[in-house]
Amino acid sequence: MDFKASLTKNSLILVLIFCLITKGQCQVKFFTLENYGAVKGGEVDNSKVLVKAWNDACKWKGASRLDISSETYFVNPVILSGPCSGPIEFHNSGTLKAPLSLKPGSWIEFRHINRLTLTGGGSFDGQGPPKQPNSRLSSMLSLSFVTNSKAENIKLRNSQGTHLILFAVNNTELNEIRISSPEESHNTDGIKIGASNGITITNSNIASGDDCIAILTGSKNITISGVNCGPGHGISIGSMGHSPNEHVDHVTVKHCNLSGTTNGLRIKTWATDYPGTVSNIQYQEIIMDNVYNPIIFDQHYCDAGSCGQGTSKVEIQDVTFSNIHGTSRSKIAVNLQCSRSTPCNRIELEDINIKYNGEDGTSISNCSYASGKVSGVQLPKPCPLFS
Ligand SMILES: *[C@@H]1O[C@H](CO)[C@@H](O)[C@H](O)[C@H]1NC(C)=O
Ligand SMILES: *[C@@H]1O[C@H](CO)[C@@H](O)[C@H](O)[C@H]1NC(C)=O
Ligand SMILES: *[C@@H]1O[C@H](CO)[C@@H](O)[C@H](O)[C@H]1NC(C)=O
Ligand SMILES: *[C@@H]1O[C@H](CO)[C@@H](O)[C@H](O)[C@H]1NC(C)=O
Repeated sequence: MDFKASLTKNSLILVLIFCLITKGQCQVKFFTLENYGAVKGGEVDNSKVLVKAWNDACKWKGASRLDISSETYFVNPVILSGPCSGPIEFHNSGTLKAPLSLKPGSWIEFRHINRLTLTGGGSFDGQGPPKQPNSRLSSMLSLSFVTNSKAENIKLRNSQGTHLILFAVNNTELNEIRISSPEESHNTDGIKIGASNGITITNSNIASGDDCIAILTGSKNITISGVNCGPGHGISIGSMGHSPNEHVDHVTVKHCNLSGTTNGLRIKTWATDYPGTVSNIQYQEIIMDNVYNPIIFDQHYCDAGSCGQGTSKVEIQDVTFSNIHGTSRSKIAVNLQCSRSTPCNRIELEDINIKYNGEDGTSISNCSYASGKVSGVQLPKPCPLFS
């Protein structure tokens, strides 16, 4: 065999091995939005075209990829549903533009999909800030009933509601997500996670007018690391206790920076009679820069109208804060307001060093019905029930 033939043979073998390892993903079938008659420029609605291209890609028996070229396409709300026959990639290198006034619900929803990859470096433009008062009910992107998936290298901007919602999503990674909306745009949460298991969020920047990340009931095994948050309302768990038996368990937040946010690390519950739990929460290596409430538990959460005068029945326990450094814009850097009927237990503070940015004295702690352990540096001075 001559040299050239042996080279060809070797590369064929390599391709074959690669196909075996990746279970056939070497033969990705491309579906291009333009070939379906999409009209660029941002005026003509491309929602029907997008759904048609998606359905074809989804039905393809094998790995498929739906490609959006580096142009701007206007799209009315769509649901892109599975189950699909193989792994599917939604590859957006351009800009998808939402309608100016979004009704409640999602703009682009991915539903019932296993092995979805959402990537391409392109943008999703929500054309916000919201023009309607019920913006809390709408969202740009949502993943629901999605498993074993990944969203990576995408930009979400100017949402009219939440930027990205994960509902009933399992074993899914979010990496290099860039979210930006103005600080004054109301109810524009960055990422909201509910009823989901095994979610990791890494290397992402989130600037919005509400929570950077909100972890809601039914979520467990959530890891957040390398996230820059600000402006915004910080990284929140809750509000819990809105209905009976709400739980959040096993959350780790590490190596994150919060800059100029209203809250830093927050757990909030309503003062209702519904029992629930927030447990096994780890916050590690967090830098706060001029955050108004760096560490805050609020068990009397009430965001509008008539809230209960009772006490919260949601138990907050086994929460560790370790290596939390930086500055606070308010004097109360550690603010643990727990419930009289259901106090917070086993809260650990290890190496806390949060200075007050103001002139009138030093940072302080203020706790009600919270107890636990402290170790290492403690600024502010811990509350009395911590030893
Ligand atoms: C996610 O996992 C839970 C178990 O933790 C399971 O009950 C649920 O059906 C899974 N969801 C999906 C969409 O597969
Ligand atoms: C937690 O999630 C990861 C994926 O992010 C998964 O590999 C692991 O098995 C999950 N652990 C539990 C206890 O669910
Ligand atoms: C947080 O800020 C520190 C110091 O400014 C920097 O070294 C680190 O890379 C930042 N972390 C992230 C996730 O960007
Ligand atoms: C501490 O919190 C309590 C409410 O639990 C409040 O009444 C009190 O004024 C706070 N202390 C300071 C110094 O703000």
